[in-house]
Amino acid sequence: MLHYKELGLVNSRDLFKAAVKGGYAIPAFNFNNLEQMQAIIGACVETKSPVILQVSKGARKYANQTLLQYLAKGAVEYAKELGYAIPIVLHLDHGDSFETCKSCIETGFSSVMIDGSHLSYDENVKVTRQVVEFAHQFDVTVEGELGVLAGIEDEVSAEHSSYTRPEEVEDFVKKTGVDSLAISIGTSHGAFKFKVKPGELPPPLRFDILEEVEKRIPGFPIVLHGASSVPQDIVAEINQYGGKMENAAGVPEDQLRKAAASAVCKINIDSDGRLAMTAAIRKVFIEKPGEFDPRNYLGPARDKLRELYKHKIINVLGSANRV
Ligand code: G3H
Ligand code: 13P
Ligand code: ZN
Repeated sequence: MLHYKELGLVNSRDLFKAAVKGGYAIPAFNFNNLEQMQAIIGACVETKSPVILQVSKGARKYANQTLLQYLAKGAVEYAKELGYAIPIVLHLDHGDSFETCKSCIETGFSSVMIDGSHLSYDENVKVTRQVVEFAHQFDVTVEGELGVLAGIEDEVSAEHSSYTRPEEVEDFVKKTGVDSLAISIGTSHGAFKFKVKPGELPPPLRFDILEEVEKRIPGFPIVLHGASSVPQDIVAEINQYGGKMENAAGVPEDQLRKAAASAVCKINIDSDGRLAMTAAIRKVFIEKPGEFDPRNYLGPARDKLRELYKHKIINVLGSANRV
């Protein structure tokens, strides 16, 4: 057993308490490699923001579990070296079973999500309760989910979303003992969230559902998945440099800002980072076809990613200067 405190990490409990009270959201950025981690920590230290380093099942497979532990420990030390010891959570994104959550808890994660959203309500309660009972023995925090987001959730793919039913949240939180709850109010995973024609606005998030949830579990930490905005300037850059991403669309940033001011205290962003890296790499490959040193295309990708994260922290989530 490697406890997360040995790696210098924290769980999400106090961060969420402060975020709900302060009307902002903690960034949950996915990472799979060194450059993404460097960009996240660089942006968060510069803006003095707490951060959730988020790892999917696919990322665990890609990056290797042992390397991940040391990358997380490295992130803590790297932040100090950059001049500011920000609180860092290592979180399992979309945990698909009790066993996956247990294995992460035993190898240094400080927070896990058990995603039972595709199960029946009773099965979701059962597996979430099981994870909470195990996790809380080690002071690891647990995120559950009610309602289904459209798009790909790790290996769980849902064609249609179903909004969270506010009448279920109180019972779910009470029966499971979760520390935070992901809800479905119209966001979805990936870079093609809505079928909109160029120039059209996507449908607004269901703030009525969020308000109803807040009424039933006041002050309880709420999580938004699928919160990339798919910046159109970055999509245009990808297409300009040989990419082909037609009709990519995301959640407008002003809506996320509004959500962050409420009980939403964790906002998950992955796809926007993928887009930023892709645009930067494509640009190098087109402008310098002779380039073959990975540092000379991963470096610009890392720089663009860092700028994107800074923008999110300062202008969307409001988590700058909170540590
Ligand atoms: O919600 C899914 C995240 O964007 C992670 O994606 O499973 O491709 O690593 P992934
Ligand atoms: P996006 O695909 O909108 O970035 O969502 C990421 C996410 O929810 C990770 O869990
Ligand atoms: Zn997600």
